[in-house]
Amino acid sequence: MHLKHLTLAVCVAMGCAQMAYAQTSAAPATQKAAEVTKTVAQLNFSESPFGKLPTGEATTLYTFTNANGVVVKVTNYGGIITAINTPDKNGKMGDIVLGFDNVTGYLENKSYFGALIGRYGNRIDKGQFSIDGKKYQLDINDGKNHLHGGAKGFWSVLWDAKPFKSETSVGVTLTHTSPDGEGGYPGNLKVSVVYELTNSNELTVRYNATTDKPTHLNMTHHPYFNLAGKGSILDQELYINASRYTPVDSGLIPTGEIAEVAGTPFDFTTSHAIGKMIGQKNDQLKNGGGYDHNYVLNKKSDNEWGLDARFSDPVSGRVLEVYSDEPGIQFYSGNFLTGKVVGKGVTFENRGAICLEPQHYPDTPNKPNFPTTLVKPGTEYNSKIGFKFLVNK
Ligand code: BGC
Repeated sequence: MHLKHLTLAVCVAMGCAQMAYAQTSAAPATQKAAEVTKTVAQLNFSESPFGKLPTGEATTLYTFTNANGVVVKVTNYGGIITAINTPDKNGKMGDIVLGFDNVTGYLENKSYFGALIGRYGNRIDKGQFSIDGKKYQLDINDGKNHLHGGAKGFWSVLWDAKPFKSETSVGVTLTHTSPDGEGGYPGNLKVSVVYELTNSNELTVRYNATTDKPTHLNMTHHPYFNLAGKGSILDQELYINASRYTPVDSGLIPTGEIAEVAGTPFDFTTSHAIGKMIGQKNDQLKNGGGYDHNYVLNKKSDNEWGLDARFSDPVSGRVLEVYSDEPGIQFYSGNFLTGKVVGKGVTFENRGAICLEPQHYPDTPNKPNFPTTLVKPGTEYNSKIGFKFLVNK
């Protein structure tokens, strides 16, 4: 089912507030036409300076708004989503992602806040893999491992950006060519990433890439979500559409095992508070310092589109649904946030946000039993993530 249909169905079941525009379908034709015109007029974007990079290059912030007042801000530096404003159950708008007011905050705090991740989401053991018998050594930037594309990952690239506005959406297309050998990866890689906000309160991120040499690619996105905007996320609730996950070693590299979540603190197949079992004595929670694991999504194929996770805040009523056509989702419970960083007036306290990153599994290039991340010349890499913003009254 298409995202729109699926989410509308879920929304109806949940009695969501922003279904108001869907309910107008019973209105007389003239009234409907007037409403459509109004809706189109309210999809909008603007541009503003976001600060300079050490190279002297200027960065830009794109602000997108929809007819329901949802605001998404994206900068061409790192494809970072700097803010997402959504309504709570009383209609009060609030920013649900951690971030900074200008590019300097992102340059000083390299924890991938809100960033576009590539070439490879999450870790590759010792930064090494082989393709067709040829060994590649990637940048090492996380202990002895490679994380999120390394020091020159897509999160640190100044992307070419073209904002757009159509009748049904508003957004920006980012493009970049990553040269052969960048970060240690083979292949000149041409990448485009489209961010698109609709009046159904959906933000989709679509990835496309081609390469001129076989290479590994696993792009995702890294917003830090807190549906209350600040404080701890331990009382916020999570559902993950996964009966299995990939256990890790103490360096957060998957062991290769695919384990059942049933009977463990990793079971989010029914929605419950993230804090409910995070403190349990458990070797995997110890290795992650909390949740920092890839979940194996319950999908019939490795590229099936579907609901991956639902994050909800019983207090504000805000709900975030994450959809994708990926086989896995990394659930990171903000374990490395220390309370020392402040951005947009908010202290990033320990477990003050979660990341839900749809992707292929970490260290796939070294795990023959995981769905492949190999991309070959003459084929296209395509993937899509959908964030849907809802309210539970
Ligand atoms: C990883 C964490 C890492 C974080 C960086 C997550 O995707 O799984 O281990 O610390 O990104 O902010």
